[in-house]
Amino acid sequence: MLQVERDAMDERVLSIRQDLENGLLPLGLYNDPDIAESEIDRIFMRCWVFVGHESEIPGPGDYCIRYIGDDPFILVRDERGGIQLLLDLCRHRGTQICRAEKGNASHFRCPYHGWTYKNSGELVGIPFRENGFADLDTNEWGLIKAAKVQSYEGLVFATLDDNAQDLEEYLGDLRWYLDSILKLTEWEVVGEPQRTVMDVDWKVMSENSAGDGYHVMTTHKSAIDLNLEARSDIPHNSLKMGHIGQVSGHALHWEIFNSDTDYFCGYQSDVKALFKGDRISKTQFDFAKRTLGFNAYIFPNLSLISYAGISGIDRPKNSYFILRLRTPRGPGKLEEMLWQLVPKGASPTAKDLLQKNGITHFTPAGNLEEDDISIVTGITRGALSKYARKINMKLSYQMGDRKNSGTGGLTKGWPGPGVSYDNSFTDVCQRTFWSQWCRWMMSRPKPLEPHS
Ligand code: FES
Ligand SMILES: [Fe+2]
Repeated sequence: MLQVERDAMDERVLSIRQDLENGLLPLGLYNDPDIAESEIDRIFMRCWVFVGHESEIPGPGDYCIRYIGDDPFILVRDERGGIQLLLDLCRHRGTQICRAEKGNASHFRCPYHGWTYKNSGELVGIPFRENGFADLDTNEWGLIKAAKVQSYEGLVFATLDDNAQDLEEYLGDLRWYLDSILKLTEWEVVGEPQRTVMDVDWKVMSENSAGDGYHVMTTHKSAIDLNLEARSDIPHNSLKMGHIGQVSGHALHWEIFNSDTDYFCGYQSDVKALFKGDRISKTQFDFAKRTLGFNAYIFPNLSLISYAGISGIDRPKNSYFILRLRTPRGPGKLEEMLWQLVPKGASPTAKDLLQKNGITHFTPAGNLEEDDISIVTGITRGALSKYARKINMKLSYQMGDRKNSGTGGLTKGWPGPGVSYDNSFTDVCQRTFWSQWCRWMMSRPKPLEPHS
């Protein structure tokens, strides 16, 4: 039989996977330099990663800088309307070419010796070329491009792996849920992304966003008590809860009303008038109408969240729709970029209200995001505990597993794909996140496996 070679990280991941099968996770895998380095190599350089929204670069030459790990890339729309992701390192001596975070340029000129590239990446200018580079084949010296760049309903993803599956296949069944919202209308980001660097391991923040409904009544109690959130005045028994794992390796927390309504995440009627069902099935359109809100995590770096809340004492409840791009920037360090998505056809007043609403809840000034950051920084710091490492302290991921079925079960009549549990007392979403993490962290990832 063929012997599969494993390295030290593979052995470590296999041990973590064994723990996970028993509902346990070692705290020491957070804030760990060896793991952080392998994550860039095995997860962020192999998976499809979110890099931005098409509406950030609407016209030819529009560009912005994005990072995969610490590597800078230029996300740019070229003169033909195509979207490129170019490694922002000059092919001559490796200088970082772009000095601005965003802008518009037909060409990028290196500030060191002046090599000049078109916004599609081709090398087109070399100063004094005839004096020293007369025979250089410029076709071979363009900027290095990401292996694949593809969009899904305006969300732009890239992979650095030539052999990666197509984006649609990577998103898999998650598309049913994305479509039910993203195909209601055309969406765009409003304003500049808010950028925060925090002392947080990206995995702690990710599994929080992957559907940790259990923390809401504790961490966010002050916002609930102040009636700032949608669910504050909605009877629990009017809702059907979906904690959904096994959605092609991604995880969701989705809440819908038990009966027909046109709630649509709590948008005001002028915005709801823009929503149409002609690009999705009737089941998906009804599902969107009945949606109270949702929290989706596209592995490994995109969080989408939409709920309704209140953004001021004189304002009615309104929805927010947040995109958060998470980039690990070294062990225990996370950069988050955050945008608000709004319907492109909404009025400037409606867009302004939606943006303010999002800022009130998420962003470093938001009442919910701050709650979470105060917790996840503590976990990241706590993972450095020498005693916890010495005794290999394990954490519990057993809620709602086979032994601890709790009060919940499968959601009856859940219309979408995946396995849905009907209350917050299950770690199914977190177990989905960690099983994906274990799969990609192996030097040879296996096909997607089902999990419990
Ligand atoms: S390093 Fe860019 S032109 Fe020399
Ligand atoms: Fe939270």
